[in-house]
Amino acid sequence: MPWTSKQLLFLVAGFALNLMLLVHSRDDQSGFISIDCGLHANSSYNETKTGIKYISDATFIDTGESQSTLPSYGHEYQDPYGSVRSFPEGARNCYKINVTRGNKYLIRASFLYGNYDGQDKIPEFELHLGPNLWDTVSLETSIATDKELIYVPLRNYIHVCLVNTGSGVPFISALELRPLPNASYQTKTGSLALVTRNDTGQTPDNRTGYRYPFDILDRFWYLYDDLDDWTQLNTSSTINSESESESGYQLPSVVMSTASTPKYPSDSLSIIFSLPDINAEYRSYLHFAEVESLQLNQSRLQYIFRNGDRTFGPFSPPYLSTETIYSTDAWSTGVNDVNISITRAENSTLPPILNAFEIYMVKHFVEPETNQEDVDAISYIKSTYNIKRNWQGDPCAPQVYVWQGVKCNYQEFESPRIISLNLSSSGLTGEIAASISNLTMVQSLDLSNNSLTGPIPDFLSKFPNLTVLNLEKNNFTGSVPVGLIEKKNNGFLSLRKQRFVTYYRGY
Ligand SMILES: *[C@@H]1O[C@H](CO)[C@@H](O)[C@H](O)[C@H]1NC(C)=O
Ligand SMILES: *[C@@H]1O[C@H](CO)[C@@H](O)[C@H](O)[C@H]1NC(C)=O
Ligand SMILES: *[C@@H]1O[C@H](CO)[C@@H](O)[C@H](O)[C@H]1NC(C)=O
Ligand SMILES: *[C@@H]1O[C@H](CO)[C@@H](O)[C@H](O)[C@H]1NC(C)=O
Ligand SMILES: *[C@@H]1O[C@H](CO)[C@@H](O)[C@H](O)[C@H]1NC(C)=O
Ligand SMILES: *[C@@H]1O[C@H](CO)[C@@H](O)[C@H](O)[C@H]1NC(C)=O
Ligand SMILES: *[C@@H]1O[C@H](CO)[C@@H](O)[C@H](O)[C@H]1NC(C)=O
Ligand SMILES: *[C@@H]1O[C@H](CO)[C@@H](O)[C@H](O)[C@H]1NC(C)=O
Ligand SMILES: *[C@@H]1O[C@H](CO)[C@@H](O)[C@H](O)[C@H]1NC(C)=O
Ligand SMILES: *[C@@H]1O[C@H](CO)[C@@H](O)[C@H](O)[C@H]1NC(C)=O
Ligand SMILES: *[C@@H]1O[C@H](CO)[C@@H](O)[C@H](O)[C@H]1NC(C)=O
Ligand SMILES: *[C@@H]1O[C@H](CO)[C@@H](O)[C@H](O)[C@H]1NC(C)=O
Repeated sequence: MPWTSKQLLFLVAGFALNLMLLVHSRDDQSGFISIDCGLHANSSYNETKTGIKYISDATFIDTGESQSTLPSYGHEYQDPYGSVRSFPEGARNCYKINVTRGNKYLIRASFLYGNYDGQDKIPEFELHLGPNLWDTVSLETSIATDKELIYVPLRNYIHVCLVNTGSGVPFISALELRPLPNASYQTKTGSLALVTRNDTGQTPDNRTGYRYPFDILDRFWYLYDDLDDWTQLNTSSTINSESESESGYQLPSVVMSTASTPKYPSDSLSIIFSLPDINAEYRSYLHFAEVESLQLNQSRLQYIFRNGDRTFGPFSPPYLSTETIYSTDAWSTGVNDVNISITRAENSTLPPILNAFEIYMVKHFVEPETNQEDVDAISYIKSTYNIKRNWQGDPCAPQVYVWQGVKCNYQEFESPRIISLNLSSSGLTGEIAASISNLTMVQSLDLSNNSLTGPIPDFLSKFPNLTVLNLEKNNFTGSVPVGLIEKKNNGFLSLRKQRFVTYYRGY
């Protein structure tokens, strides 16, 4: 049960208390994209507790309604949770956010229902990344849920979609993207969905959660609330986040300067955790820093075990600097629980320590996105003619949410290609958009019954596979390109054109 429970509330309340002390905004939010969903178009603000600059979501999405969570729910939370964008219309609604392809991002989607619709009925819906299922969003009224994903986009944009599965109206509170160092959180394949991230060293009298500006990468660090057999060590020194072995994890000193250790020195530190999906693969990242200055005759040497198998060690956490230990391969257990334990080596004079840990589920997003050129072309067409419909997210994939009027070929290509475009009776005005010429695989094009003007462009005769072209009921001027007439006469093209073409040149 990793995502619910009262700790989360405690945590966020903790954020409020703690970060109050730290009201300042910093200029090191480079590359941060912080979107407050439902915020008025064109507005932005510096969040009061973190100093993070949030902007409205209006430029990233065409649809949905701005709503406010009831004040009684929002007060413990940071500002972005005060408003939501909800999606009463349409099965799938998508944000499109520009990114730098090939860079690594932490993508976080946050949800606080807060009875924004006065229905007191919590919806359940799906969160998709492009054409792929990212996670199912199940909520509680007054408790925020965050979904985090570490992802390397293959395109210069991402689509984050909310999908109505018939169990209530989807909504979203905030969307955040944080660039991560390339060397951190490496996977051979797949993306990483956060299962749990905990700061294990916090003492019972000073328990809170941390994020930016404590964590420069703005991860959420949750306290660890299962400390009966543990006790804590701390240092007032700063823990260096730049050590070589740390390779880009940039852990916050405030998290690393405290560590847990067993109450009984001969015990191990065991984290027993119920895995959300027994069949999935996981990756764990364990963060260690020695917080005590050891005497010459002292040593702290420890091993890491996972479900009884020794996976690492012996090793000594480096003094006042971070060592992150992770599995080079993803692991699965075949059982419901994972038991990660840190055990002291036989000749260690001191018991083991652990400062923080993270567990991620490996996600394989296998459904391919539509061919990039087709996406670019259809996106231009969409903006040229200001087409709304359900034209959001990936045009072809998944097949159930294909854009209205678009047909795709899924079989013959590595990524789906657009082969048919029907924009009849769509109120189109102006000339035929040149970007249509980039839908190179198109077989059928219907632009009939609009108010298109200008010449019939020659590129229409250049499509290698075009067999159906309907230009009826428009206001074109000029002649039909010779290439089109030839194709029609040769029986390659079914051509329907408007009845009254103004012929400028003799014909
Ligand atoms: C937000 O913080 C930035 C510095 O990071 C500052 O330049 C800007 O004026 C602040 N905006 C508001 C509305 O306070
Ligand atoms: C937002 O700003 C743009 C350009 O600055 C303007 O055209 C638009 O009307 C504004 N929208 C709102 C809701 O104020
Ligand atoms: C995203 O990038 C595209 C193409 O590079 C550009 O046309 C568009 O304005 C950008 N969108 C935003 C919200 O910056
Ligand atoms: C990130 O690292 C991978 C392999 O470690 C490398 O192939 C890739 O080019 C790097 N990307 C960037 C943007 O540096
Ligand atoms: C509690 O945590 C805050 C924030 O990290 C820190 O400034 C403070 O010194 C801590 N209190 C104690 C008693 O250590
Ligand atoms: C660890 O953090 C997760 C959030 O990542 C939280 O839900 C969970 O309750 C924490 N575990 C414990 C034992 O407190
Ligand atoms: C840090 O450790 C010292 C003992 O070494 C203890 O007295 C103090 O309470 C601890 N502080 C916190 C915040 O845990
Ligand atoms: C280490 O040496 C100190 C004196 O320098 C002594 O008090 C302590 O008992 C020794 N500890 C061990 C484990 O030998
Ligand atoms: C402790 O034992 C390990 C092997 O179990 C060995 O690698 C290490 O050098 C020993 N350390 C000391 C201080 O004896
Ligand atoms: C067609 O696509 C190419 C890149 O593939 C681009 O350079 C060109 O501008 C596009 N043409 C139109 C009219 O959009
Ligand atoms: C198109 O032509 C029809 C009749 O020829 C005319 O009624 C209509 O206003 C024209 N529309 C445009 C957009 O020019
Ligand atoms: C489309 O045209 C290309 C290039 O001429 C050709 O290779 C391909 O077989 C055609 N596809 C179909 C479905 O006609």
